[in-house]
Amino acid sequence: MLIVAEGLEKTYRLGQVDVQALRGVDAQIVAGEYVAITGPSGSGKSTLMHILGCLDSPTAGSYRLDGEDVGTLSGKRLAHVRNRKVGFVFQTFNLMPRLTVEENVALPLKYRGGVPRVERRARALKLLERLGLADRIGHRPDELSGGERQRVAIARALVGEPAILMADEPTGNLDSKAGSEVLKTFAELHAAGHTIVLVTHDPGVAGRAQRMIQMSDGLVV
Ligand SMILES: Nc1ncnc2c1ncn2[C@@H]1O[C@H](COP(=O)(O)OP(=O)(O)O)[C@@H](O)[C@H]1O
Ligand SMILES: [Mg+2]
Repeated sequence: MLIVAEGLEKTYRLGQVDVQALRGVDAQIVAGEYVAITGPSGSGKSTLMHILGCLDSPTAGSYRLDGEDVGTLSGKRLAHVRNRKVGFVFQTFNLMPRLTVEENVALPLKYRGGVPRVERRARALKLLERLGLADRIGHRPDELSGGERQRVAIARALVGEPAILMADEPTGNLDSKAGSEVLKTFAELHAAGHTIVLVTHDPGVAGRAQRMIQMSDGLVV
């Protein structure tokens, strides 16, 4: 099991009010699975993904990622696990506008440290070729279409060879043609053995995954 979560709870404090975003969630994901976390807006999908992706820690419950107990980690120790194990793709791409495509993709390796520049370049180029973006390496993000930008973001998420790729509403800012290009890329990555967790409120997008985790009001239903 790559992911084993039990009884996850997350409570946000908003002024005087507690918002219970997760109310006891169990989840298991095997390496190589392609899972969609789905459900209506506000049901806790992003909160669950943030915990599974080590961006945040639960208020209660246990979480093991790749054999490591991470549910009680926070701060630097959580960030360390996240940097090695998880690649993220976001709805709004979050590319650096002043960097080229190639520099954007290589950036996580630069942050990680210890990878020489030549190797950073080689790994970025290899992924960009694989994602059909070899002729875009010198472009800036604003010279690309939405679908191309999101594929650059996917390359950036993969460059550190994470155990798991997590995407939060990755087609949310794309038209249907660009959205289906991105979903095709996920299907290809899954076929190549990657583990993917996709968060979406769109049942059509969720239906492209191998399995669905359906959320409602902070619980898996
Ligand atoms: N940082 C936060 N502070 C306070 N409340 C939050 C925060 N993030 C999410 N919430 C609340 O938690 C609930 C679940 O949110 P979220 O996980 O973003 O749902 P979804 O991704 O399914 O739309 C919602 O009621 C939301 O308003
Ligand atoms: Mg969300």
